[in-house]
Amino acid sequence: MAWTNETAITQWNTATTRESLAASATDGDFAKRHLVNPVLLRLLGDVRGRRVLDAGCGNGYLSRMLAERDARVVGVEPTDVMVTFAREKETELAQGVAYVQADLARLPDLGGPFDAVVCSMVLMAIPDWRPAMRACVAALRPGGVFVFAVVHPAFEELFGTWREHGEYRSRRYLAEYEIAGPTGTDFHRPISAYLNELASLGCRLREFVEPGLDPSAVDPETPGIEGYVHLPNFLIVAAER
Ligand SMILES: C[S@@+](CC[C@H](N)C(=O)[O-])C[C@H]1O[C@@H](n2cnc3c(N)ncnc32)[C@H](O)[C@@H]1O
Repeated sequence: MAWTNETAITQWNTATTRESLAASATDGDFAKRHLVNPVLLRLLGDVRGRRVLDAGCGNGYLSRMLAERDARVVGVEPTDVMVTFAREKETELAQGVAYVQADLARLPDLGGPFDAVVCSMVLMAIPDWRPAMRACVAALRPGGVFVFAVVHPAFEELFGTWREHGEYRSRRYLAEYEIAGPTGTDFHRPISAYLNELASLGCRLREFVEPGLDPSAVDPETPGIEGYVHLPNFLIVAAER
């Protein structure tokens, strides 16, 4: 299949159920709660009164967490199903989050520069991702912070591989390839692709985080979960424009 941003967005829109969106509507899933959210919030810092863009916001859970912390949030999401869900949540909660339906690679005017842009678990889901990263950086004021999280390119299939082998196994890293998921396809690229693009956009790297699971959070009834203690399934980067 020749992937374009449009075909990827159509796949997300078709395969995502409202039930799955509702199940992770408060603070995401297990991995988000334990590994991703604490890092994103720390890297974003005090967001009170700050204008924050949640780029590829999905069901909007992170937008709502940021609004609870008194940020002024705009969430961008291209799929009908997710942007509708997020807007319904806004109607229910009246937090003042504005949800805009758009492809990050073709961002409309969002009303001026942002103090921070967060793009969580999105760039690896976009076939033509470089214009999307460029748009995230361009949306920032000078000195603003860009925080992005992707599935760690070196350990993408951690849970299943660890469950099967008790260790991580991989035979390819440098090539670009697709990884089919239950609701969308991810596109593997080496870490250097993301970091070199960031550098070419003139960003200064602030921090690079590879979070590990606290052993106390391991559920012995879930074989494979201990892989998250030993290897990072996510890569989270903070940079400054
Ligand atoms: C794994 S989900 C993450 C959603 C959300 N950030 C979260 O952490 O729950 C990937 C998201 O990327 C969005 N996405 C895919 N292609 C996109 C594009 N071209 N522009 C913006 N978002 C896109 C999908 O619709 C989906 O919401």
